[in-house]
Amino acid sequence: MSKKLTISSIKKRKGSDPLVMITAYDALFSRLVASSADMILVGDSLNMSFAGKSDTISATLDQMIYHTNAVCAGAPESFVVADMPFGTYTTKESALENAIKMFQQTPADCVKIEGGQDKAAVVRYLTENGIAVCGHIGLLPQSVRSEGGYKVKGKTEAEATALITDAKAIEAAGAFCMVIEGVKADVAAAVAAAVSVPVIGIGAGKDVDGQVLVFSDMLGLFEAFTPKFVKKYLDGASLVRGAVESYATEVKTGEFPKEEHTY
Ligand code: KIV
Repeated sequence: MSKKLTISSIKKRKGSDPLVMITAYDALFSRLVASSADMILVGDSLNMSFAGKSDTISATLDQMIYHTNAVCAGAPESFVVADMPFGTYTTKESALENAIKMFQQTPADCVKIEGGQDKAAVVRYLTENGIAVCGHIGLLPQSVRSEGGYKVKGKTEAEATALITDAKAIEAAGAFCMVIEGVKADVAAAVAAAVSVPVIGIGAGKDVDGQVLVFSDMLGLFEAFTPKFVKKYLDGASLVRGAVESYATEVKTGEFPKEEHTY
């Protein structure tokens, strides 16, 4: 991307030019994705693919701040979205205190919080106090334990109506865009049509205003499980394993290092 996006340039992309969002957790990868992504998400999914935990729940604010700084250092010209981890926005007061910490200790452009109508008051309080918010509705990874798994949403009329209510509530509260995850494609399309801010899908079909994928999923580096919605653009795990095997073999056979690698 030649020029860093702003809140208003992101909003203008609604219904026209699809937004490309991808996660990154460190400077190495943010530098690699920056030229193709409109927005980089420092997702709390890092707790799974980077920290090896079984869900996102134990990610901490300090951990997210550390990774957000690394991502921003690698991609200083990118629009960076920082996930607020589980338990850091249970009340509007704690949300503001924690989001201020994120804003003061990192150059993140906005925070992302999970929830719909139930989080509208939090979204409003943050935006009224100068913190830009990207919402996150549909399948909410931070609710995995309370919901007993990752459940696709929008399968019933009631769920579809609730999702539209959620999207409208957080838009009215000031969210400038939102992620919609794990939602039946026709329902996600109806949600996108119901609001005037961009709706960025993950596992939500193509009739939305952009897509987001977790980089370690789409590069084939995360092997624990692959959700149906992930397309692997690289067989990263095999490539890395193959390269490390070659290195190990060459060390054992004495083929590495050669003269050109030696001072
Ligand atoms: O944490 C994350 O990576 C996310 C994406 C799944 C949207 O929230």
